[in-house]
Amino acid sequence: MAYPESMRPSIAEVERTRPERLRRREFSRLTLEDKEALLRRFHPDYRPEGFRSLRVGANRGQNVPHELADLLEARSLLDPDTFELNAGADHDVDVLVIGAGGAGSSAALTAHEDGARVLITTKLRWGDANTMMAQGGIQAADRPEDSLARHYLDVMGGGGFVNTPGLVRALVTDAPFVVEWLENMGVLFDKHQDGTMMEVHGGGTSIRRMHSSGDYTGMEFMRVVRDEARNRGIPCLEFNAAVELVLDDSGQCAGAVLYDLDTKEFSLVRARCTILASGGMGRLHCQGFPTTNHYGATADGVVIGYRAGVPMLFMDTVQYHPTGVAYPEQLLGQLVTEKVRGLGAHLTHCKGERFIYELETRDAVSAAIIRECSERQNGIATPTGVLGVWLDTPMIDMLRGEGTTRRALPAMVRQFARYEIDITQEPILMYPTQHYQNGGLVINELGETAIPNLFAAGEVSGGVHGRNRLMGNSLLDIFVFGRRAGRRAAERAREVRPGRLTLDHVRTYHRQLDKAGVSNHRAAPMILPDYTPASHRIRRLGGVAVG
Ligand code: FUM
Repeated sequence: MAYPESMRPSIAEVERTRPERLRRREFSRLTLEDKEALLRRFHPDYRPEGFRSLRVGANRGQNVPHELADLLEARSLLDPDTFELNAGADHDVDVLVIGAGGAGSSAALTAHEDGARVLITTKLRWGDANTMMAQGGIQAADRPEDSLARHYLDVMGGGGFVNTPGLVRALVTDAPFVVEWLENMGVLFDKHQDGTMMEVHGGGTSIRRMHSSGDYTGMEFMRVVRDEARNRGIPCLEFNAAVELVLDDSGQCAGAVLYDLDTKEFSLVRARCTILASGGMGRLHCQGFPTTNHYGATADGVVIGYRAGVPMLFMDTVQYHPTGVAYPEQLLGQLVTEKVRGLGAHLTHCKGERFIYELETRDAVSAAIIRECSERQNGIATPTGVLGVWLDTPMIDMLRGEGTTRRALPAMVRQFARYEIDITQEPILMYPTQHYQNGGLVINELGETAIPNLFAAGEVSGGVHGRNRLMGNSLLDIFVFGRRAGRRAAERAREVRPGRLTLDHVRTYHRQLDKAGVSNHRAAPMILPDYTPASHRIRRLGGVAVG
């Protein structure tokens, strides 16, 4: 599936303008005012029709995407009046970890290291998580010319200066240690000949601090942390989705109810402490966008945490990664790492001209692409009418020497080669794709939530990234807060004495739904996304980019 004839004249324009673009690489940056105006006009977060005000729970009255509101305003999969909790549990542990990606696995490792009896549960397989899909890298200020303060300011700037300061402090402070911890466990980072780390720029960062393993960094991390946890004998229940948290009669979290996807049976885990590490919500396809996320990213942790009473932060902001694949359609919405732009590739419109500095923050780059494809009518149409802009990948070898692309982006080279597109010779077509849940459940620096003995770590939590996360801070976040939550949970588990188990919070929530007149008879969490034709989940690229 090489490019069709209809797209070739525009590729010729990219080739025509390339020598001049290579010669004059500067491009003006957005002022704060320009950025604000761009976001307001074109970022999907600013489309009022994409959101609605919640009618129940701690964030009642606040806006969230409709797709999430549908789940937060749904009922439990359990009947709290008939589900028996106090006749004995199927598992009784110190620390239950819900989710088996990077945050869950690292939480389990530290809790186990500190002597806790740990159980991991995951609705798919161990490692089926956004961690596995992460490509570009992890940030850590570990060079003499960098500093924790600089990393801190970059994170705050990227997030719109509304991030929770204590969480950002924890993030940047633990970062160099986390990179060392991963390397000591066996992660193979990209290195120079002299053994020092290769570090590249990400959008919105003021200095190179992105450490990577090719363009499959998350897969490499997941390989190592999962192996380590397996070697230590930490048990993991696969295909077991957590469908409700269980509290005790004094309001402390005391475990969870699981649903076995194979046997279709519920089971009960009693736990002195519970860690939600269940990831984000890309598979809700907010506003019809495609997604980079793995199949299980359906907001389950936010749903059960919120129902139990944990407040959320910044759930009215969704991260759309600027460079999701727009052609070939078999790869629609899949991630093309920001590292490609960090290595120097330009974004151009149909006439081969740049329209945005490529390493502006993601929200701004996405908004600029949407502007080109809508108001300015500068998008490139595929034969089926999808629109996108070019990412001029052949520039990378021209700027950095032949072979760089194959060395730095081996997975991407192969992925496109399957469709007869050689990214070292031809540009690739991009459009924003839902990538990350900027907000989530409120936590403190130890990963504790408002419910005693309930913790959250990674994408399910909110605050650290403010309203827009920077590249490489998600792989960092999962290990910083996974480790912190695991440590604190193990410590706490030594003191906790759970009381009588209840699902009263579910009854209360159902009453609130009735009182608010919510007539929706949906049950949540969703567990797996619905791609039946009737669901119309992806309305082609956010309903914007159809030619
Ligand atoms: O572009 C990327 O490689 C994505 C990285 C991230 O979201 O941190």
